[in-house]
Amino acid sequence: MAVRFEQIQDCQQTNARLGRLHTPHGTIETPIFMPVGTLATVKTMSPEELKAIGSQIILANTYHLYLRPGHEIVREAGGLHTFMNWNRPILTDSGGFQVFSLSKLRKITEEGVSFRSHLSGEPLFLGPEQAMEIQNALGSDIAMAFDECAPYPADREYVRQSAERTVRWLKRCKEAHQRTDSQALFGIVQGGMYPDLRVENAKAIVDLDLPGYAIGGLSVGESKEQMYEMISHTTPYLPKDKPRYLMGVGSPDALIRGVMLGIDMFDCVLPTRIARNGTAMTSQGRLVVKKAEYARDFTSLDPECDCYTCTKYTRAYIRHLVKADETFGLRLISYHNLHFLLQLMTKVREAIRNKQLPEFANRFLTQYYGSDE
Ligand code: GUN
Ligand code: ZN
Repeated sequence: MAVRFEQIQDCQQTNARLGRLHTPHGTIETPIFMPVGTLATVKTMSPEELKAIGSQIILANTYHLYLRPGHEIVREAGGLHTFMNWNRPILTDSGGFQVFSLSKLRKITEEGVSFRSHLSGEPLFLGPEQAMEIQNALGSDIAMAFDECAPYPADREYVRQSAERTVRWLKRCKEAHQRTDSQALFGIVQGGMYPDLRVENAKAIVDLDLPGYAIGGLSVGESKEQMYEMISHTTPYLPKDKPRYLMGVGSPDALIRGVMLGIDMFDCVLPTRIARNGTAMTSQGRLVVKKAEYARDFTSLDPECDCYTCTKYTRAYIRHLVKADETFGLRLISYHNLHFLLQLMTKVREAIRNKQLPEFANRFLTQYYGSDE
């Protein structure tokens, strides 16, 4: 077994769980947020900085690394861990999502997806076998199944067929998966916004007995309430003794609600993406540091934060850097935002341990959003 999930404690008031995920590159405390390192780098952050803020695991993308530099180069380097100088766990997404969101002229068949590279226009193909072969070359600790994330909105018949094909693709992923002792394959539950399709799909995916399960196809434009509803319909069908991963979700309220619905792992580009357009996540909510009102504000981004950025730099200085297009400004905000979400998850784990998750959630959300939503 490449990964083993150890349940430490169940929350009595919600479905949250405290756990440990043991992987070939170390143990992760769950619930956890995974910073996104699409191109074998978490944008603007060095591995040393990622460790300093307590990143336990990061995510990388099959689709992007297949396009450049190419998985054969990463294999030659000795795998992704060596290539990017990151010796902690790595999870790779399968490309089954990015190929739909980024590439043009894609065509889905039973075999897989034909598409054109969003960089060169070159015709390419990804299917379950290719996604597993590439992830094998990358050498991630956790590999994701090749799936189709149906668009939103999509009609029921389309979503049903797409979800059923995702199950057939998962069977092929499982057959093609090679290093089962050093890499865990996670299945992905689809089913769009149709509760019964979610249930049916979850059952079929869980039948394949995998070391972990993800919920995909969410945060694609639906309302938050709809997303929570889909999660609640799915988690009862996922085994309690396996990790559960909610893909592409990372706003503070969704992390907290997700944990309370029984989710153990999350990833999202949100903290690093909004950092690059000058927005910080703070204990009082989002702060757009470019605003004129911060020109003479010599306080830190977040008065409650003790990260490197907040102990050394002021809003006025960071605003100046962002306005002048200086990359250091983006680095400082990225560092703070990731620290903020990782700290949030540390506090969430502590709240579960102390049997105070609902109280913590109310307090945090009231401060962040100005109400408890
Ligand atoms: N990232 C966010 N959503 C998804 C999804 O549905 N599938 C995959 N493979 N990755 C995702
Ligand atoms: Zn900070």
